[in-house]
Amino acid sequence: KNQTLQLNDGHSIPQLGFGVWQVESDVAEDVVAKALQVGFRHIDTAEIYGNEEGVGRAIAKSGIPREQLFVTTKLWNDNQGHDSALHAIDASLERLGLDYVDLYLIHWSQPEKGKYLETWKAFQEIKDSGKARSIGVSNFTPKALQDVVDTGVVPAVHQIELHPSFNQQHMREMDARNGILTEAWSPLGQGKEELQDETIGRIAEAHRATPAQVIIAWHLAIGNVVFPKSVTPERIQQNWDAQQVTLTAEEIEEINGLTREDGRLGSDPADFND
Ligand code: A2P
Repeated sequence: KNQTLQLNDGHSIPQLGFGVWQVESDVAEDVVAKALQVGFRHIDTAEIYGNEEGVGRAIAKSGIPREQLFVTTKLWNDNQGHDSALHAIDASLERLGLDYVDLYLIHWSQPEKGKYLETWKAFQEIKDSGKARSIGVSNFTPKALQDVVDTGVVPAVHQIELHPSFNQQHMREMDARNGILTEAWSPLGQGKEELQDETIGRIAEAHRATPAQVIIAWHLAIGNVVFPKSVTPERIQQNWDAQQVTLTAEEIEEINGLTREDGRLGSDPADFND
């Protein structure tokens, strides 16, 4: 099973992917190899993760035809701006050992710098050049997202922090209204309290599944693109197998109800303010 969703530019994206945030490059090579072996075809990395080379080596060694893979990377904040973005994509492709990425994202909107529209213009050139099949944004404030939408070139995706204790209902609605797919980062809440949650635990038991699988199944059910990170081989397999878990409408509602005011994780909330 490997469900794909349609992007607003006509390309498609595997809904379940594999994330490598906070995974050092050599380890990334091993775990991406494992992820590809269990069936994952969508890998989400970023310039700032420092592991594009490891990801690229795993891809090259896998022998999987390029067109069967979906690779995302992200422009780091320091490289916002027209010329620097054009340079950064070349550097990322070089490290990945690829001719193109499937998706290139502006990592953070950084409204205080006032460069995201200029950067977005460069992204359109990058798309036109074929170096990125699709382009999108990540961690954008509502205002920054609206500004980008107003250019007439609507991002294919918006990647945001999203997990049961922080379900981002408002931003998901804004994305959906604009035909933008929402991607969830730290979908398991970084593997902290959410995996211990009583409601999640009860639902997991009912399905003879693990809490992580229930959370992944919830993301898939509500239409998110999701890429849990793990460096543990059994968990990588388990997370892939979460596609077999089908939640009831009531269970989805129950998990929707777990969101909290203080559910956000590590990142600076100021990054999201206008
Ligand atoms: P590890 O990488 O040591 O296996 P998120 O994607 O929300 O940031 O969560 C990543 C964290 O969740 C990591 O610490 C990872 O641990 C842990 N994790 C990933 N998959 C599972 C799983 N199936 N069961 C328990 N913990 C998991």
